[in-house]
Amino acid sequence: MSDSRFWAVVPAAGLGRRMGSEVPKQYLKALDIPVIEITLRKLAAVPQVQGIVVALAEEDRWWDRLGLTFKKPVRTVIGGEERIHSVLNAVESIAESFTMQDWILVHDAARPCVTLTDIGKLITEVASHPCGGLLAAPIHDTIKLERPEDRDVEETLDRRRLWRALTPQLFRAPLLLKGLRAGARLPHQVTDEASALERLGHHPRLVEGRGDNIKITRPEDLELAELYLAREARALKL
Ligand code: CTP
Ligand code: MG
Repeated sequence: MSDSRFWAVVPAAGLGRRMGSEVPKQYLKALDIPVIEITLRKLAAVPQVQGIVVALAEEDRWWDRLGLTFKKPVRTVIGGEERIHSVLNAVESIAESFTMQDWILVHDAARPCVTLTDIGKLITEVASHPCGGLLAAPIHDTIKLERPEDRDVEETLDRRRLWRALTPQLFRAPLLLKGLRAGARLPHQVTDEASALERLGHHPRLVEGRGDNIKITRPEDLELAELYLAREARALKL
């Protein structure tokens, strides 16, 4: 990947409805630091990442107030209706000269607990993959498929082949752009970058990541994220 250009794209244009707070969850603080700042500092610390594009809601009132500065270029774009539209807008903004050597790492603003070790593992393991891959966690619970008419169990799925898709997701830039452009018409079916590529017939690589790379979705997730981040801060002697 030495000749590759490498951008991180961070969707941060959601309103955090399930969180139920007035301030969108990416701007809430964990251990006194805004969640989005923790996420962006980690991405900026990835040696391969040359710059970051953050997608913000059109009505965002919080980003400018953070006054963040980074050693790498960080630019913003306006996001869209659904997550895929936000990611697409960010990718379009840098799409001028993508080649198959270029990569895009997409990571949710709401996942501040990701580790640099897992990001490094993802980069190493997809380096020679034809399309890209994603961090994912194996499913440990027994998973039931419902019968839609009455919600009785239809069957139990074989969990040994099931994974929870996490972020970052890392793809060859031109393929990601093509997948997102096509998937943007079906936003409720295409809920991550990998599924946009799958619809085009690609098979992204699953790279096992830590299960504590949680997406902050509800208030209890923020409490959990603080516990994980405190443990990390102790380990880094921050
Ligand atoms: N996101 C985005 N643009 C959207 C919707 C979501 O950039 N139109 C971002 C969020 O800001 C978040 C990530 O995508 O960083 C994952 O989305 P999710 O957890 O669903 O966040 P929200 O949509 O903000 O939350 P909710 O679904 O509870 O409203
Ligand atoms: Mg959402």
